[in-house]
Amino acid sequence: MARKPLPDRLPQARPPRTSLTCPRQPRRTLAPHTTPLHLLARTRKARNLLSRTSTPLRRQSRRPVPSRGLPHPDGWFAVAATEDVLPGQVITRRLADRDIVVARMRSGELTASEPWCPHLGAHLGGGTVTAVGLRCPFHGLEFNAQGDCAASPLGRPPRTARLAMLPVREILGVIVVWHGRDGGDPEWEITEISADPQDWLPLRYKVLQFRGHPQEITENSVDLAHLSVLHQFRSVNVRQPLHADGPRLRTAYSAQLDRVPILGTLDVEFAVAVDGLGWSRVETTLPRLGWTVRQLVLPTVTDAGTVELRLAVSVRRRTGRPRWLWTVITRAVQEAVLYRFQREVLADREIWENKVFLERPALIPGDGPIGPYRRWTKQFYDQPALTPAD
Ligand code: FES
Ligand SMILES: [Fe+2]
Repeated sequence: MARKPLPDRLPQARPPRTSLTCPRQPRRTLAPHTTPLHLLARTRKARNLLSRTSTPLRRQSRRPVPSRGLPHPDGWFAVAATEDVLPGQVITRRLADRDIVVARMRSGELTASEPWCPHLGAHLGGGTVTAVGLRCPFHGLEFNAQGDCAASPLGRPPRTARLAMLPVREILGVIVVWHGRDGGDPEWEITEISADPQDWLPLRYKVLQFRGHPQEITENSVDLAHLSVLHQFRSVNVRQPLHADGPRLRTAYSAQLDRVPILGTLDVEFAVAVDGLGWSRVETTLPRLGWTVRQLVLPTVTDAGTVELRLAVSVRRRTGRPRWLWTVITRAVQEAVLYRFQREVLADREIWENKVFLERPALIPGDGPIGPYRRWTKQFYDQPALTPAD
């Protein structure tokens, strides 16, 4: 029977709970710190006193924080695929509560900038690309790839009219833009790897938008316990313990997948490479079948509490004869993997959209290295408030 294709977006789930509902008084809500003693305290002064002196320490340390309350992390974040911005094209994307404008010059050079024209503030997302650069739709000032105003129909280009440019890169066919505190320069680069089209099929994408945060999504890479409960893997074993090196995390593990149609039980090996909270690459190998698949998990904060998650899949080419047949088979494998990948991420999404972030989770040994992961994430924030108990 033909399977119904998965939708890019599911209907909106109910909002995450940000407060606890009182069962006896359904209309009232209790703040997460509220205890029965608080209810008995009639005056604000008494409640404040309770909050300062008698809220159990344990309860404070397990304080649930809606994931949408996490701050924006520093790092490289995907905003588009290479094919979304062809020479001469201009697009607008959201990144960390603001618009950014991405444009491709006629020469092929890619630029990313703030959206506001320095002349009189028009939005450059409605601009066009000329031989000089990005042309503002309002009075026609033209900005080159460095942000200088290089042409103006109104007279000599004003020297002070400089467009604020943003660091942008293209990696594996993905356009990433740096988001840093205070608008600073990039502090590190994403690890470049080979993507020779002779060896790998072009990436295939899916884009999902939902309530969540890159830290929670990337945490999945080290959350081993959920692999068996949510994704039906079994015998999950660590092949390479978590290794952190600056903004990079590396780990590898193996697992088994049961009841795969026709194939039965399959051994699966995962090598995880995380570069900041916006870029995770998982190389998945199926030793028995000889396939290697590259999966990208690219969460981008668009607005506070909302992420745009790009999923991309590429398959390592196999050589054999007839060549056309192997091309057809490889493409079919890529589509099957992308379908399954999206299905599993949709299961994750139901969790992410409705969970809270616990600063100090009650970790157990089978969880995987969530504690070290949380400590590693601190480097991407101004405030060191995201570490669980040691
Ligand atoms: S506002 Fe852009 S040229 Fe005037
Ligand atoms: Fe998952």
